[in-house]
Amino acid sequence: MNIKIISASIRLGRKSHRVALYFKNYLSENKIADAEIIDLAELNFPIFEERLRLMPNPEPAVLAFAEQIKAAEGIIIVTPEYNGGYPASLKNVIDLLYAEWKRKPIAICTVSEGMFAGSQVITSLQFTLWKIGALTVPAMFPVATVEKTFDEKGQPSDPELTNKRATSFINELVYWMDKR
Ligand SMILES: Cc1cc2nc3c(=O)[nH]c(=O)nc-3n(C[C@H](O)[C@H](O)[C@H](O)COP(=O)(O)O)c2cc1C
Repeated sequence: MNIKIISASIRLGRKSHRVALYFKNYLSENKIADAEIIDLAELNFPIFEERLRLMPNPEPAVLAFAEQIKAAEGIIIVTPEYNGGYPASLKNVIDLLYAEWKRKPIAICTVSEGMFAGSQVITSLQFTLWKIGALTVPAMFPVATVEKTFDEKGQPSDPELTNKRATSFINELVYWMDKR
């Protein structure tokens, strides 16, 4: 299965990337997918100026990103919550593409350092993805107090509980991937 994990935080010292690493490990250990992380910090795209389809000379990295999204059968977005919303880095790449997002099953994982697990991001991100025609799956994976619950390599502090939650989250994504 072709699942891509978008790690949305580009912040120095970011913590939500730990959860992206966790999903990569989880998917490979459970032989669900050899999932690749699309790390927006690595891509380091400039601030949006125009959609890819209207760019006169798109950078190869932008074309490669579009190809990755197009080819993905399903996507997990791991996003931090910044002031009640999702980061500019994520909006930057959503707006870049259009057809590539169409009917793409996407599962949203929100992350915060605090108690509320980034849950305020859900409605705004879902709305944007709905507007662009993606298929956000009805499952949540909110992560609270990320610094305590995942280490730098993505190992959860409570593997049993975390894997149980991941199973139902991923099952929902895979269900909608199979329907496509
Ligand atoms: C600009 C900014 C705004 C933030 N706003 C919130 C917030 O509204 N709610 C929250 O729970 N955490 C907030 N945080 C803390 C993040 O939850 C924390 O940085 C967490 O580790 C996830 O982001 P990261 O992957 O960039 O580390 C904010 C952090 C930054 C840098």
